[in-house]
Amino acid sequence: MTDRPAYSVSRLTLTDFRNYASLRLEPDARLVALAGANGAGKTNLLEALSLLVPGRGLRGAEFAQILRQGGAGTWAVAASAHCPAGEVQLGTAWQPGEGEDNSQSRSVMIDGLQQRSSGALGNWLRMVWLTPAMDRLFTGSPGERRRFLDRIVMLFDAEHGTRVNAFEKLMRERNRLLEDVSPDRAWLSSLEAQMAETGVAIAAGRVGALSHLAQYLAKDDGASPFPWGEVVIEGTLEAHVDEWPAVESEDHYRHLLAEGRAADRAAGRALQGPHRSDLRVTHGPKAMAAELCSTGEQKALLIGLVLAQARAVKALNGGAPILLLDEIAAHLDPARRKALFGLLDGLGGQVFMTGTEASLFDGAGPSAVVYQVENGQIVESKSSHGE
Ligand SMILES: Nc1ncnc2c1ncn2[C@@H]1O[C@H](COP(=O)(O)OP(=O)(O)OP(=O)(O)O)[C@@H](O)[C@H]1O
Ligand SMILES: [Mg+2]
Repeated sequence: MTDRPAYSVSRLTLTDFRNYASLRLEPDARLVALAGANGAGKTNLLEALSLLVPGRGLRGAEFAQILRQGGAGTWAVAASAHCPAGEVQLGTAWQPGEGEDNSQSRSVMIDGLQQRSSGALGNWLRMVWLTPAMDRLFTGSPGERRRFLDRIVMLFDAEHGTRVNAFEKLMRERNRLLEDVSPDRAWLSSLEAQMAETGVAIAAGRVGALSHLAQYLAKDDGASPFPWGEVVIEGTLEAHVDEWPAVESEDHYRHLLAEGRAADRAAGRALQGPHRSDLRVTHGPKAMAAELCSTGEQKALLIGLVLAQARAVKALNGGAPILLLDEIAAHLDPARRKALFGLLDGLGGQVFMTGTEASLFDGAGPSAVVYQVENGQIVESKSSHGE
């Protein structure tokens, strides 16, 4: 690759990762297409890439599930990456703990140094993914939309994920405490104060990220194959973080928690907070709630949202994030496919996309390489046809 994108992976190695015993890939292109039959290992490869940023990857899988059946008992992903801060070696691995303990977190190495958590990866690569499982984003559970929203925020604020995890931990502790017959009130108040501080920071991060994103949702007349969407957060805290000073928002939430103890105890969980927020998306040109749009319209909206995120990151950080687009070409007619390839090429970032047929990537242009995946191996690579 002559002009290396600001965020890109130049080498990827997998060890006992799902159906890959071992793989070494040096993606020497900006548009990297993975073609292969069902079950070849295309999504697995994207999943491995998605573990180069904080979190559980694009499947949200248990780490034990990733371990190759019949493998040696440790999975690992290593990569050489290019970031605005320079070249970096990223590595992550997981192995089962003692006895039945499959719950421990993955280990992370950055430039050979062991990190305390996967959160440290947030300082390096930026990634946005779109998978077929996300086709149900608008009609599915609020939790999925919240995770989608929080991944958007993490593109702009690497600490956001750590805050979300900290909040969940505080909340679990409060839930446990509320189960006591006579809970320690001072301890409860202290947990609630910490929840208020962290919760308001989470809400402010979300509101800030979405207002940044909104500038890059290209508001055209609806002629674009990937329409703009209006994106709004529905949430108790998000409703006023913009207008109130942070301390006032924190006081407000602290009172909600203190007054809601009885109800929360009965429900077994906190009924108010950033963990209950939802994302409302509207199809801009049609002024139609996303969940009421057709399957194809929802897919186009999602692609529009992905492109907006990419433009927003590029504007802020000087380079587009790495895009992982699983089965993207299959849903699009040839004209939309061509439009998408053109937009991706124009972004200038690295893109990994999958499809069952190499021919789906015809017309992806000279910056594309198609790798043929078969049974957990890459058997062939070729430049895509220019047109
Ligand atoms: N832990 C594991 N060990 C070994 N193989 C696994 C493991 N987890 C999943 N697989 C297998 O890996 C294979 C490839 O899965 P993957 O989802 O990557 O396929 P794909 O190429 O994306 O196919 P499709 O076109 O159907 O989406 C599947 O046959 C799956 O059963
Ligand atoms: Mg797949």
